[in-house]
Amino acid sequence: MAGRKYGMGVVGAGMIGHFHAEAIKGLPNAELVAVCDAVEERARTFAERHGCRPYGNLETFMADDRIQVVTVGTPSGLHGEAAIAAARHGKHCIVEKPIEITLEKIDAIIEAHAAAGTTVGGIFNMRYETTARMFKQAVDAGRFGRLTFGMAYGPWWRDQKYYDQGGWRGTWKLDGGGALMNQGIHTIDMLQWLMGPVRQVSAFTRTLCHERIEVEDTSAVAVEFANGALGTIACTTSMWPGHFRIIEVSGDRGTVAMADSKFFFWQFAEESPEDERVRREFLEFPAVSVGAANPSAGMTAIPHRANFADFLQALDDGREPPISGREARRAVEIILAIYESARTGRPVRIGD
Ligand SMILES: NC(=O)c1ccc[n+]([C@@H]2O[C@H](COP(=O)([O-])OP(=O)(O)OC[C@H]3O[C@@H](n4cnc5c(N)ncnc54)[C@H](O)[C@@H]3O)[C@@H](O)[C@H]2O)c1
Repeated sequence: MAGRKYGMGVVGAGMIGHFHAEAIKGLPNAELVAVCDAVEERARTFAERHGCRPYGNLETFMADDRIQVVTVGTPSGLHGEAAIAAARHGKHCIVEKPIEITLEKIDAIIEAHAAAGTTVGGIFNMRYETTARMFKQAVDAGRFGRLTFGMAYGPWWRDQKYYDQGGWRGTWKLDGGGALMNQGIHTIDMLQWLMGPVRQVSAFTRTLCHERIEVEDTSAVAVEFANGALGTIACTTSMWPGHFRIIEVSGDRGTVAMADSKFFFWQFAEESPEDERVRREFLEFPAVSVGAANPSAGMTAIPHRANFADFLQALDDGREPPISGREARRAVEIILAIYESARTGRPVRIGD
């Protein structure tokens, strides 16, 4: 049915849950009706702030028939539990990155929604930034010629307190990994979105400057893409004070490089009149990277809102959302291959 209004409920009243609420509250075709958190007190505080109904129990929350769409912002290794419960209750579901932390659990989410006839989608808010969309359009228009090299660089910093305060962070069981699976995943998703599927990776990972974490804080990865281009991924939480997330794509007819959400290089062999405007409006090298050392600094709900709007539009149209469950799976598959390569000391192929 076109143009309907959706009742939405948020699972996980933590840091990102508040961004979900702000994103939903700004959508003309959605209403925030409920929140659920395992810590009931957190759900109550959240509900008072955002004006919705609190639940401390997932099954009771899911039984609320005012909710048609659930968003999930619980610790990463618990996404499957909420996403599968949503399918069981006939509700559509939008899941935070990483959609889950193993391919088995991701496939179980996708299958549960296929069986229920409901829709599942992922969140990659970075794809919804203006410059990211301009970048993607340039790739889709073939402006780079033959793609030759792609780089995803997340030279970030997290202090020890960050890992100590959230019991789930830095654990294999609930975070599913470290600098790659938690922080770097946005950058890795952008790289594969722009360059196309990854064919193989060869990686080193290390834990160099944090204590009491099981996962990597430093990584260096060589990449081969399915189209034959090469590239590198390096994501860390070990580079004080942290600086720009850099994504660079090159071909034999053009190069674009992006630092956070600004370009610092935009040049093509076949210039269009638009290129001068792009450079005037979007080309700068920011003096300070606000998000590089703090998970929520500089973040707004606007990209999440666009991500949710795209999902609701797909529901209206009766089609898969652009970031479907399968699409959200890609970045996790790359990261798991990187972990396997780092563990075994061998290149790991994807999709064999
Ligand atoms: N898209 C982004 O830019 C972005 C940014 C930060 C975090 N995230 C993702 O959001 C998720 C949560 O991260 P966070 O930083 O908000 O964590 P957080 O620890 O601040 O919040 C998690 C919340 O989930 C609740 N919770 C735990 N288990 C639950 C369960 N079984 N049922 C219901 N509630 C439960 C906790 O009590 C807590 O309130 C992670 O998957 C993370 O990767 C995404």
